[in-house]
Parts: sequence; structure tokens; C-alpha cells
Amino acid sequence: HDEMIRHARQVLSDNDRGTYTVPTHGLYPFQWNWDSALSALGFAHYDEPRAWLEIETLLAHQWDDGMVPHIIFHQPDDGYFPGPDVWSTGREVPTTGITQPAVAGFAVRRIFDRARDRALAEEKARAMLPKIHAWHRWFYRCRDPQGTGLVAIVHPWESGRDNSADWDAAFERVPTEGVGSFTRRDTSHANPAHRPTDEQYKRYIWLVQKFRSLGWDTSKMHDASPFLVVDPGFNAILIRACEDTADLAARLGMEEIAAESRAMAEKGIEALETLWHEPLGQYVCYDRAIGAPIESPSVGGILTAFAPIPHHRAAALVRRIETLAKSCNYLIPSHDPTHAAFDGPCYWRGPVWLIVNYMVADGLARAGQGEIVPRIIGDCLRLIETSGFAEYHDPITAEPCGGPHFTWTAAMVIEILN
Ligand code: DGY
Repeated sequence: HDEMIRHARQVLSDNDRGTYTVPTHGLYPFQWNWDSALSALGFAHYDEPRAWLEIETLLAHQWDDGMVPHIIFHQPDDGYFPGPDVWSTGREVPTTGITQPAVAGFAVRRIFDRARDRALAEEKARAMLPKIHAWHRWFYRCRDPQGTGLVAIVHPWESGRDNSADWDAAFERVPTEGVGSFTRRDTSHANPAHRPTDEQYKRYIWLVQKFRSLGWDTSKMHDASPFLVVDPGFNAILIRACEDTADLAARLGMEEIAAESRAMAEKGIEALETLWHEPLGQYVCYDRAIGAPIESPSVGGILTAFAPIPHHRAAALVRRIETLAKSCNYLIPSHDPTHAAFDGPCYWRGPVWLIVNYMVADGLARAGQGEIVPRIIGDCLRLIETSGFAEYHDPITAEPCGGPHFTWTAAMVIEILN
């Protein structure tokens, strides 16, 4: 294990750009929002100032409306498409104009709880909580204009689960007309069979162009997007972050933030219940554009364990994971291996992601469902031993997939082994 930790720290240091980390050299040469927040957990075990700095850098690029963008293009790099010129958000340091799972609030609370340098932790948490809270408020204002308690994503990239089968039907409604020709760069860094299709890329870009035509006014994007999906995992992360923000703010005497965060978390938890799908035994997405559930058995509906869901739901998710275990060798597959859309090495259509395992395990342990946790965490370590610090792994064969030498994979290993 010492050797594994040493190797993981090497990955973090190789991907360290001083004030932020890149997810991996080549494929993702900038700062990604949720990658950074989760990667900070790894740094926190041996360099607390560096851990805080990672999240601080992310929040320094928050928009005035409260949104924290999904990519910050700190340095030019033509190895990535779509770069800053495609987004044209007009920021001094260019960023994209969409967001990503709001895991930073959770990360700040966790790093705070474990911090050895208490003075530094308090100073950093005090400075960051108002920003994180503003981001959460932006979510409920701009992505839940009807006040349902659940936020929608307007682009698959926002979910972090870019090419999940969850989006397939909804994505059909995104046109491709008017998307000029472009050259993908991802497929020159990673095996194309592990990546989204060209057809999906055209639709990804159509949406970017659509939002650009709205002048990146994030208050208009919800109603204007043909792709409008409520993802249970995405909401669970936001709810958990609101809950963690509430707890931490209360401890620091930031009463207003505490009360508002608590209220958002409670409303979210209640609304999450509407996404429960009894026949599948898990939560599912909801297509807000047409007002119908999306009956797709993906890990998005299991990631809900990360939020303070009712105990009987957490118990049911354990049964669901036990069922999935019968059709794969490594938990937790990002899509049900018995389902037609399953594709073992293809990004979010099958592979195991360590960050997902970590969040699900954390939530189940909190819910008193810890019995399955050693299995979920043990599978993470078996995958790394067999196949290294890949972006993701095939849940049947353990094949390392996507980009190699991956920051948040390494951070999760450090987190698990400490
Ligand atoms: C990509 O480029 O594949 C990223 O996931 C977008 O965020």
C-alpha cells in the first residue's frame, strides 16, 4: 500500500500546474470543476495548503451570477476541442459557460473536518463558503425556475456522465444542423472506442453554439435548451453539498448561509423521492422537456446514496448494487451490464469510476449500510493493482480505459488508503 500511495502522489504531482491540477496530461489539459474538488481530497492528506489552493483557484473563476464553470482554460492548449474560441464566453481567463456536479461544498467540509492546521482551515472555509453558497443558489434559481426542488442540466457535459445511455432519447431532440465541421482531439489521446461518438459530439457542439447565441446569459439557458434533464446523481451531489455547507456554516457562526443551505437540502431530498423507480429498484432521470421519467438503469440513480436519502431507500440501493454484482467482476458499473445499452469500456456506458464508488460508499456508510462498503472499496484497489491509475475501467475485464495517469483516480486511492 505504501507503494500504491507513493505512485498516486506521483500522479498528482505530475498533473500539478502549481495552482490547479489537470485531470490528465494530453486529453484534458485544463482545470475541470469536479475533478479539482475531488482531487483536493488527495492533496489534503499530505499538503493541506495545496488542497485548499486547488478549490480556491476553481472558485476564483466563478461568474458574477454565481455559476462555477466546468472548465477553466488557464493556458492555451490546442490539444483539446472545444477550446475557448468555440465557447467564446468573453471572460478574461476563458472558461466554458456550463457547470458541473457541485461537489466542492462536500470537499471543503471534508478537508475542514480532517485538517491538522485548524487556523488555516477556518480561514479558508470562511472565505469559500459564501462563494459555494452563491453557486448553490444559482443552481436553484437558474436550473429550477419552477421551484420543484430539483435542478436540470442543459448539457450532458454538466452531469459529468457525458455519454450515459440516460441521455440517448433526450439527445435525439438536439439537432445537428448548422454545426460546422470540426476536428475532435480527444480521439487522438484515447481509444475512440472508449469515447463518445461523432454523432454525440455534433450535438454537444450544437448545444454550445445555442447557448453562445444567448450571450451566455445563464438565466435563459434552462428554458431555451432542447436538452433538459433532471439527473438524480447530480441532484444528490448538490443536496449533499448544501447539507455540508449548512453544517459547516453553522459551526462557523454563518447563520444565514446555514439556514438557507439547510432549506435547500431539505427541499431537494423531498423532491428526490419523485425520481424513485420501483421496478428498477433505483432512482432514474427525468426528461423535463417532455415531462417523463427516463427508465435507464445507470449509476446516476445509485449515486443518490451520497445524499441523506431515507434509510429504506439506501437499503434498496444496496440490494440494487448486489444485483449488479452478479453481472460484473468489479463494482460499480456505470450502466447495468444486463441492459442492451451496456458497453464495458465505453466511458459512462459501463465502466467503473473510482470517484463514483467513493461517493456511493461514503453515503451508504453514513446511512448505516456499511456492510457492502468493503466490497465497493476493495474493487477500486483491485482495479488499480491490476490496471493502474486509469480514468475508468471495464467492470468485466478490468481493462484500463480513457486517459492514463489520472488525477482524481489517484486522489481517490490516497483517500481510500489513509
Ligand atoms: C470532455 O471533453 O470529454 C469532457 O468530459 C467535457 O467536459
